[in-house]
Amino acid sequence: LKIAVFASGRGSNFQAIIDQIKRAKIPAEIKFLLSDQKNAGALKKAEKEGINSTFIDPAQFETELAYEKKLVSLLKEAQVELIVLAGYMRILSPFFVKKFKKQIINIHPSLLPAFKGLAAQKQAVDYGVKYSGCTVHYVDQGMDTGPIIKQAVVKVKPEDSAADLAARILKKEHQIYPEVIKLIAESKLKIEGRKVKILKEE
Ligand code: GRF
Repeated sequence: LKIAVFASGRGSNFQAIIDQIKRAKIPAEIKFLLSDQKNAGALKKAEKEGINSTFIDPAQFETELAYEKKLVSLLKEAQVELIVLAGYMRILSPFFVKKFKKQIINIHPSLLPAFKGLAAQKQAVDYGVKYSGCTVHYVDQGMDTGPIIKQAVVKVKPEDSAADLAARILKKEHQIYPEVIKLIAESKLKIEGRKVKILKEE
């Protein structure tokens, strides 16, 4: 499976994916890492791992559409089959999403459909929920709304700060994101409307 990872920041999920592709022998190859942020930690991690990386500055384009067209051409050129959003802080337009139907996945640090959008861990702490977690989902035209592939649950402790909860959730992110990529690489997912089924071994 040919993959591209999009990241805007630190890149810890990107690193977890790299590590698990090797360790768990996932039949996947990261063709490139794309970042919209010059100083993204993810770019440094790509360099260290010898993975192709590209920083493309959206500000250099007249419009968001022009920027996305550039991304589409890079993806097509590399024959990418799956786009993995790992802390990519831009919303992809309907134009882009339509080009890669059911080929874009995202990870979100809450149990969707609760706490969509930014600072999901703080939203959970402020709301006072007792459990939160993370969700890997397909990307559709909404924000954090696409069909859910996998979720992991963590406890929220009374004394948790948003940062405490974020750290506990992040550990689970690093587990489930590579697991989902493995399932996709092994063609074990089937999408029926909103429902994503995991096919059993023959
Ligand atoms: C993660 O919490 C992820 O759920 C969210 O952005 C963060 C990215 O972290 N979408 P990292 O860059 O992978 O370390």
